[in-house]
Amino acid sequence: MYGGVVHGSIMMMGALTRIPDGVRVKLRRMRFGMDDEVPSHWVDDSQFISHFFNALSAIFPEGEKFFIDSVRFFEGEISDAELRGQIREFARQEGHHTYQHRLFNEIITRQGLPVAVYEQFVRELLDHGRQQRSEKFQLAMTACLEHLTALMGGLVLEHPELLEGMDPKLRPLWAWHAVEETEHKAVAFDVYRAVGGSYAMRAYVMLQATMLFFSVVHRIQLDMMRRDSERVRARDVLKGLDYLWGRAGFFRRMVPGYLRWYKPSFHPWDDDNSSVIEHWKRENARYIESATEEAAA
Ligand SMILES: [Fe+2]
Ligand SMILES: [Fe+2]
Repeated sequence: MYGGVVHGSIMMMGALTRIPDGVRVKLRRMRFGMDDEVPSHWVDDSQFISHFFNALSAIFPEGEKFFIDSVRFFEGEISDAELRGQIREFARQEGHHTYQHRLFNEIITRQGLPVAVYEQFVRELLDHGRQQRSEKFQLAMTACLEHLTALMGGLVLEHPELLEGMDPKLRPLWAWHAVEETEHKAVAFDVYRAVGGSYAMRAYVMLQATMLFFSVVHRIQLDMMRRDSERVRARDVLKGLDYLWGRAGFFRRMVPGYLRWYKPSFHPWDDDNSSVIEHWKRENARYIESATEEAAA
């Protein structure tokens, strides 16, 4: 055991990983029973918000491949057995996210969205990064984007009303993904730290990661809206902007957690939100087809 909760705080015990007791990064195979009987505006009847989530899903397969590759590149340099195990399970979790989001992406493809085109766009963008940037930089980029996905995941789990408007057939997919992004939120960060990644690089890369994330998500979202057979309505756009950036909005609420990244002493588990994982496990066992978690516990 490398991390322990002592007097309510998470302690480093001379090891490279730092994770609260009770949290395990382990693959779960899921079965959600997604089918085509889903409206195209499947979130709160909103074109804007639905295409925001559609855009995220279109990005995941290529994005998650990049995450896996950039972390696994350094696996041989990690001597800590706990962290090596987390790297393997991180890759398996991300791989299964991709599998499930591909099923989702097939549905929105049949609804008329050119997901393959978006995937190619993201692949070319990331390939450019692979060619131009060092492996350490790519790992920093992954750690940064993992911080953003973990913030988003933690947020929707702590504020379930953010997912309330989703079609009930699709909500479990997004809640599960949010849980596993929370579980493995420190893996890329811990690997980055273990291989000597600097504060300066991770701070600088976060600025780039933030611009990359928002520009790519919104570019794809806007393209989806442009192709939508229903015309764009100003009222729906305002509702969507409020959902994302309003006082209780998705991204507005992420700002404090986002800024914590820039603290030199930051660690993803400074925010121990592991209770949301336990809550999800109690409510969602029926979607788990098989899990290695119990076997390994
Ligand atoms: Fe993921
Ligand atoms: Fe992730």
